[in-house]
Amino acid sequence: MSQFPRLFTPLRIGPVVVRNRIFSAGHDTTLPTDGRVNDALLEYHRARAAGGAGLVIVQVAGVHESARYTSHILMVTDDACIGGYRRVADACHAHGCAVFGQLFHPGREIMESQDGTAPVAYSASAVPTERFHVTPRPLSRRMIAEIVDGYGRGAGRMQAAGLDGVEVVASHGYLPAQFLNPRVNLRDDAYGGDGERRLRFLRVVVAAVRSEVGDTLAVGLRISADELSHDGLTPDEAVAACAALDSDGALDYVNVTAGSSATLAGSVHIVPPMAVANAYTLPFAAAVKAAVSVPVLAGGRINQPQEAERALERGQVDACGMTRALICDPELPNKAEAGRLDEIRACVGCNQACIGHFHMGYPISCIQHPETGRELRYGRRRMTARARRIVVVGGGPGGLKAAAIAAERGHDVTLYEAENRLGGQVNLAQLLPGRAEFGGVIANLAGEARRAGAQLVMGTRADPDLVRRERADVVVLATGARPRRLPFETEGDPCVLDAWQVLNGTEPPDGAVAVVDWRCDWVGLGVAERLARRGRRVHLCVNGYMPGQLLQQYVRDSWLATIHRLGIDIVPLVRLRGVDDDTVYLEHTASGELVELGGIDGVVLAQGHESVAELTEQLEDASVEVHAVGDCLAPRTVEEAVLEGLEVAASL
Ligand SMILES: Cc1cc2nc3c(=O)[nH]c(=O)nc-3n(C[C@H](O)[C@H](O)[C@H](O)COP(=O)(O)O)c2cc1C
Ligand code: SF4
Repeated sequence: MSQFPRLFTPLRIGPVVVRNRIFSAGHDTTLPTDGRVNDALLEYHRARAAGGAGLVIVQVAGVHESARYTSHILMVTDDACIGGYRRVADACHAHGCAVFGQLFHPGREIMESQDGTAPVAYSASAVPTERFHVTPRPLSRRMIAEIVDGYGRGAGRMQAAGLDGVEVVASHGYLPAQFLNPRVNLRDDAYGGDGERRLRFLRVVVAAVRSEVGDTLAVGLRISADELSHDGLTPDEAVAACAALDSDGALDYVNVTAGSSATLAGSVHIVPPMAVANAYTLPFAAAVKAAVSVPVLAGGRINQPQEAERALERGQVDACGMTRALICDPELPNKAEAGRLDEIRACVGCNQACIGHFHMGYPISCIQHPETGRELRYGRRRMTARARRIVVVGGGPGGLKAAAIAAERGHDVTLYEAENRLGGQVNLAQLLPGRAEFGGVIANLAGEARRAGAQLVMGTRADPDLVRRERADVVVLATGARPRRLPFETEGDPCVLDAWQVLNGTEPPDGAVAVVDWRCDWVGLGVAERLARRGRRVHLCVNGYMPGQLLQQYVRDSWLATIHRLGIDIVPLVRLRGVDDDTVYLEHTASGELVELGGIDGVVLAQGHESVAELTEQLEDASVEVHAVGDCLAPRTVEEAVLEGLEVAASL
């Protein structure tokens, strides 16, 4: 009997039977071009369907011209969209996977301009959104009718394309939620006022969709059961709306999530980062489930099949969204069903290449699985016609990925790691507060390399002699980086440590500590948090506008909340000039003026890294083919190291 008796049981959603309880929730991929499905998006979804997902919900699609919240949003406003959706439906159906589409209007939540000018945003009322600083225009009755019509016609086009269902996106503070929310909807016409009238917009939208598609398609609602914002939709309001629509008999399912686009605190929950507990939205889902008669779907940091099975067993949901879990490992359902649990590459919630790329306007991917979003190029592994002897130097993420892919392709691969454990800088990164899960990256990549047949040798420092003895045809260097020490003046005998020393357990003196953070990434924030939790008064002095400036915004914003709660003082826009026994001398990066910080007992430097490139130089004139990947090329992040490992190994 399967280890997952509930997860692999079919689920009926209205007229559709979904083969199992794992679904990919709607997520913007930035893959479409010109607002249409293209080959990249087709292959992206084909990979998830082939990997065993029961249901793929295709990303938000704008139902009206005023719905363009980014410059690359998918649109369902004319019939030209039908062909692309049909290709996705056919590709997924061929693997037994159902396909729904999301019908979307962001209302006031306009994230990007189309041409550099700010468009007019529309909402129920002229209540500004805090996160994007947009003041919308209240929708006229005529425009409401146009938008409602857009939902209906969009649903009709999805039906014509052969999709199995449509989902009205009322989650995350988007337009239908703006109408529901009494703090955002201040109208006094038929669409505002008491709960019934605030529900009217959503009611007419769902009715327009239903009258277009009848009972042949599943019609669902996505809603945040708690927007987790100071003026967001409350659980009572959200559950009441679901119950009312359910008693109308209007819905075939409810898809529960949390958070809101409108605030920093709320938006963290659109794609909750590692600091947020696994499966934390399930109590919200259970509250909705208690109030409706139709199946309830939910997701949010469910990254392993065991977690999903437990949720089903407890009766909190009927199906589990495992969105990033499938971005990270499209084969997760097949592996779970076959009992190959050790092979599952679990998402660690880093948000770097998935939602991180989306926010920067690039196609989504995964730091652990850079094949995601690049299916056209790396979707199929080509075996080599000429097996070669490959030595990889360095057991961090870049080296492990190179070893895994080269071995999978049929090469003879040995990896040498100087330390007695694999991982490189990830071993330190996982020591940052709330980042323990990050170590999973190494467990996953090492497992992949071993299963592919690569030999992993630890405690051996590679040098040119070893490369010669190994008779390597190719050397892949992945020797990583070490902390960078920028020059600065010292006087007296101040205590100055670097972040790596602190993470490895060296304690600065009690009292006040200045953390001087050049890169504005995880390290400065993490060290500051760690020291504050150990009783130090911390000044976090950053070279940018704010700590975490380089981080994905949900990771950064939830961390900024933590350091605010801990009372950490932030000094922005400064570079280090000098340190004496009790003072740190900084220089403002814009004005050039001196900024003195007195009463300091210790200083911790987080000044970025420099490449460990000695072996690269020593092998420069060797007759062997040499490639370098990751930080030893130039210090960056795990994402670039793993991608370069893939690129090099795929080219051999
Ligand atoms: C890159 C990315 C884009 C997203 N865009 C959407 C979207 O278009 N519509 C939506 O309802 N949710 C969107 N989400 C939220 C996901 O549907 C899902 O709720 C979220 O990833 C949390 O679930 P998970 O922990 O299983 O990944 C997006 C998530 C990601 C990672
Ligand atoms: S980039 Fe990070 S959060 Fe995104 S899918 Fe990959 S492991 Fe998960």
